[in-house]
Amino acid sequence: MDPFFVVRGVTKRYPGVLALDGVDFDLRAGEIHVLLGENGAGKSTLVKILSGVVRPDEGDVLIDGASVRLDPPSVARTLGISTVYQELALAPDMTVMQNIFLGREVTRGRAGLLDPATMRRETHRLLKLLDVDLDPDTPVRRLSLATRQVIEIVRALAWKSRALIMDEPTSSLSEHETEELFARIARLKAEGVGIIYISHRLEEMDRIADRITVMRDGRVVTTRARGTVSRAELVRLMVGRELTEAFPKRVPNPGPEFLRVEHLTVPGRLVDVSFAVRAGEVLAVAGLVGAGRTETLRALVGLEPGASGSVFVRGRPVRLTTPREAIRQGIGLVPEDRHAQGLVLDMTVQQNIALASLPSCTNRGFLSFTRLAELARRYIARLRIKVASPAVRVATLSGGNQQKVVLARALAAGSNIVLLDEPTRGIDVGAKVEIYDLVNELAAEGNAVVLVSSELPEILGLADRIVVMREGRISATMNRSEATQETILAAALPVAEPVA
Ligand SMILES: Nc1ncnc2c1ncn2[C@@H]1O[C@H](COP(=O)(O)OP(=O)(O)OP(=O)(O)O)[C@@H](O)[C@H]1O
Ligand SMILES: [Mg+2]
Repeated sequence: MDPFFVVRGVTKRYPGVLALDGVDFDLRAGEIHVLLGENGAGKSTLVKILSGVVRPDEGDVLIDGASVRLDPPSVARTLGISTVYQELALAPDMTVMQNIFLGREVTRGRAGLLDPATMRRETHRLLKLLDVDLDPDTPVRRLSLATRQVIEIVRALAWKSRALIMDEPTSSLSEHETEELFARIARLKAEGVGIIYISHRLEEMDRIADRITVMRDGRVVTTRARGTVSRAELVRLMVGRELTEAFPKRVPNPGPEFLRVEHLTVPGRLVDVSFAVRAGEVLAVAGLVGAGRTETLRALVGLEPGASGSVFVRGRPVRLTTPREAIRQGIGLVPEDRHAQGLVLDMTVQQNIALASLPSCTNRGFLSFTRLAELARRYIARLRIKVASPAVRVATLSGGNQQKVVLARALAAGSNIVLLDEPTRGIDVGAKVEIYDLVNELAAEGNAVVLVSSELPEILGLADRIVVMREGRISATMNRSEATQETILAAALPVAEPVA
């Protein structure tokens, strides 16, 4: 089948980085083409070129055989390429319908008057096609992240797109929402839309991919049809080496109690949450999206106003009212949403890493740039952060590498109670293993670790003890030895599941 577009020899350079190096790639109508690669491999850069955000330094994109220019993004969209960005790009105060037709309003007659009746009919038709039950007049602000993502897909259809690009669409979706997304992708495919799908979740590949392209260091390593390559081989192609055991064994050696939480309550969100973590221990917190796991961690660093209950650090009662106070007590949070809470995008990698440890980087009261740089270099090496120099702006790093910078900052601040909220989200398989090693190392060095994760294998592989949350409460506490996927799920699922 003839491809819809062909990428030929595309190269993109940034200062000190060859982000894309002679990339060849193509997309056919009605196929799902999965793009795999480690953090920093160049996936998002390729997406940016295809969506007209970035212009290639060399090479061409051909549509129906003719070389085209795709920038700015409005041109790419007009040519039939739509992108669902990870940081969703809808206007929150406009309605569903307004967002779908934004920039492409249907007009009537020569005066160019808006034709709401036609737009409404079209909106209804598209929502129905994707099986979405939604009032077109709802303001987008009121919708969940998953629903907003669907609106972006509907919008792509309204623009008669022939290609839809999704960069890590499931990274913040629950399992159920992911299933719904897959069903919708199947419908788009049946409509003849070609889909580029980027994800670090390898288990998704087997389910949806028609073809898989693996990138490494800005180059295409291989493009294969589904079923012609095993998962292990994909991993090897991505990381360029064999990966050893994902969950290294650690002999638990718990010391004194570092953190005790009693009756933690946040009106409307958390009810009577109590647990304790010892030095050298990894306590995993399992539960579904929305169960209150993130709120629990946030409350511990003073980010949930209205929180009540008692917190003890090394047996002493403390009042954790601000993040600064939490850091002073040795509690460091690596948040889930690195953009909203984690990073200062306009500052350098070095500054971001040192942000919470500036006092330790002073020399007789003056900020020591030598110490700053040393600290940054140490953690860049330890977490294998892929960056041309510590002095580049953090905004220029790939998604997964930004996540590592947030982790580096908490560690650099000398926290010995480390709260990790989904630390491997958006992280490639190779780097995941590094994060697992690091969690084990942190515990082995005598730190207390609280790990929130939605990946059950991760929980079972790393935890010494597990608490499960459901609807703002702790529904079960178990030792590693009594925990299985089944026992955890049983405690996490709603008690009486309504018939869907
Ligand atoms: N605006 C920019 N300025 C400088 N370097 C950049 C810029 N954008 C991307 N890079 C670099 O280009 C390389 C490829 O980045 P890209 O975002 O394409 O990776 P990715 O494969 O999407 O990774 P991830 O899985 O972490 O999202 C990285 O080394 C990144 O730091
Ligand atoms: Mg990316």
